[in-house]
Amino acid sequence: MMSRVVVLLFAFLSLFASSQIYAAPTREIVARQVGDLTCNFDRLSIVAGLATLQGTLKKLSGQVTNDTTAAAGLQTVTDAVSGAEGAIGVIAKALLTGQAAPADARTQVQANLTAAQTALAAINSTDSTISANLDKATTQLANAALAGQGVVANCK
Ligand SMILES: *[C@@H]1O[C@H](CO)[C@@H](O)[C@H](O)[C@H]1NC(C)=O
Ligand SMILES: *[C@@H]1O[C@H](CO)[C@@H](O)[C@H](O)[C@H]1NC(C)=O
Ligand SMILES: *[C@@H]1O[C@H](CO)[C@@H](O)[C@H](O)[C@H]1NC(C)=O
Repeated sequence: MMSRVVVLLFAFLSLFASSQIYAAPTREIVARQVGDLTCNFDRLSIVAGLATLQGTLKKLSGQVTNDTTAAAGLQTVTDAVSGAEGAIGVIAKALLTGQAAPADARTQVQANLTAAQTALAAINSTDSTISANLDKATTQLANAALAGQGVVANCK
């Protein structure tokens, strides 16, 4: 997974490097391209992070089948994470077509991640395997949310 992210990142880097040769960039364009690079790095980090998190959530949902409250909470978390992934997809599409990322999509990334964190924090379990996985999911979500802040700040 990580190596795929790195390969993608280098693909983006070389894309922007080669466009600089042709563009005779002004300071503004350079600033924009640096911003785009940071944005792409944050975006790839969050895509990888959320995919890992979805794996943990899937494992958890198989473990809480007898706990309807926890199962419902997990569904809320999973939906919010999927919502964030959808909004990141909108940002990716805009960037690939050279358009500014829609402000709505940036807000949706943030709002969905916050909703996921709130719902996840409300789930607890007396089962040590489940609570270990809940802790793991909480850490993974916190890391993804950090990259999400980068997306909100840098993907304009
Ligand atoms: C759920 O409950 C059923 C019946 O009480 C039990 O057989 C099963 O092992 C439980 N599953 C989990 C994951 O705890
Ligand atoms: C989550 O993202 C989806 C788009 O993927 C959006 O429709 C929804 O409004 C977002 N949720 C929040 C709480 O912003
Ligand atoms: C989860 O936390 C709530 C509120 O803190 C508590 O009422 C509930 O008993 C806890 N459930 C488990 C399984 O620990």
